[in-house]
Amino acid sequence: MEKNVTRQQFLAQTAMAGAALLLSSLEGFASALPDKKVKVAVIGCGSVSTQYLPHLSKSKYVEIVSVCDIIPERAATRAKEYNVPNQYPHIDKLLAGAPFDMMITLTDMQEHGRLNKQALNAGKHVWSEKPMANTYREGKALLDLAKSKKLRIWGAPAVVNSPQFAYMSKAIRDGKLGRVASAHAHYGHTGPTWSAFFYEKGGGSLPDLGVYNIATLTGLLGPAKSIMAMTTIVTPERTVDNKGKIKVVAEDNTQLLMEHAGGVLSNVQCGFNFFDPHGHQGKSEENQTIQVWGTHGNMALAGYDWAPHGVDMVTHDHEAPQRFVPDPGEYVWQQGASVISESLVTGKEPLIAAEHALHVLEIIEAARESGISGKKINLISTFKWPVV
Ligand SMILES: NC(=O)c1ccc[n+]([C@@H]2O[C@H](COP(=O)([O-])OP(=O)(O)OC[C@H]3O[C@@H](n4cnc5c(N)ncnc54)[C@H](O)[C@@H]3O)[C@@H](O)[C@H]2O)c1
Repeated sequence: MEKNVTRQQFLAQTAMAGAALLLSSLEGFASALPDKKVKVAVIGCGSVSTQYLPHLSKSKYVEIVSVCDIIPERAATRAKEYNVPNQYPHIDKLLAGAPFDMMITLTDMQEHGRLNKQALNAGKHVWSEKPMANTYREGKALLDLAKSKKLRIWGAPAVVNSPQFAYMSKAIRDGKLGRVASAHAHYGHTGPTWSAFFYEKGGGSLPDLGVYNIATLTGLLGPAKSIMAMTTIVTPERTVDNKGKIKVVAEDNTQLLMEHAGGVLSNVQCGFNFFDPHGHQGKSEENQTIQVWGTHGNMALAGYDWAPHGVDMVTHDHEAPQRFVPDPGEYVWQQGASVISESLVTGKEPLIAAEHALHVLEIIEAARESGISGKKINLISTFKWPVV
């Protein structure tokens, strides 16, 4: 304690800090929601909204107040389908319209940072599809803004919520694999056909697909210290529903290498040129897409991390392969905003953390940089680990 601060002043200061903490804690929000429902507004009524809205509308913790899209017919269609009372053609009108607690951002990726900032400035919590912002710096500023306003922001994906992720995380912590050395993850398909933004600046296979694998591997192995990547464009021209023939500007083929603490290395392979008989809806993918190797065992996730089918393991003590956690339980990839709403009502911290989403965003940005410069990039961000 500083000499010139009296004991009384010290106690008063810490009490104030405690009160501030309580205000921004989930318990604080929970007590401000007496009817135990979070009023949400969905911005972006395209493809992914058809996955979010059914899940949200079944949640007892959610009241869907408004939908918004710059293509007003899309907002009108969703409002009709899900019985949503208000629809708006612009975020300004959404924020000035029917009151709500949390904005759910499902627009083009390049719009997320700007829209999320506007929502925070209007006093709303935010759940954002990935990425939370276009750059790590922009994302970090959003988190700081949220903190300064005693609000919360979270970003997809929700992969850390699966029971398979929890099982793999615990197996590593329990030493079932011995000393972990290496891991691999991949996710790809032949690319979205409906919207150009996936192929424009700020898009690419990393923020759309690799993001799941990066969240899983950093979630399992801990924050990355540095990365190297090669990024290429395999299909330079595409035809998409909303703009016809376009030039592909963002990478559509990436190999990313990550260095974690203790010499552990992992790699992610993602792209928009991967034939997969299960296509974009790869739920029925049964093959292993994530592998972790250690000195006493190895384990693999069957299916994608966003639609897992089980964990296959072989160890020193049990060389015959065994499958664990074949049931995903209530986990589905599109549950993020519903799970966060539940947390806001119950006051229980979710496993998903903004700091983790920001770390993944920093890796994505660094991979783009490394892809251009050919250099290894050191990272500055981190997050609370282990997650489970
Ligand atoms: N489609 C999927 O299966 C899927 C799955 C997981 C995550 N995502 C993520 O969800 C996001 C949206 O993807 P999508 O496939 O639904 O794209 P989409 O093109 O189908 O939908 C985006 C919608 O946002 C609207 N929009 C764009 N800018 C807006 C703005 N400023 N204000 C209001 N509305 C605006 C567009 O008009 C469009 O209707 C992306 O971040 C994507 O990575 C998509």
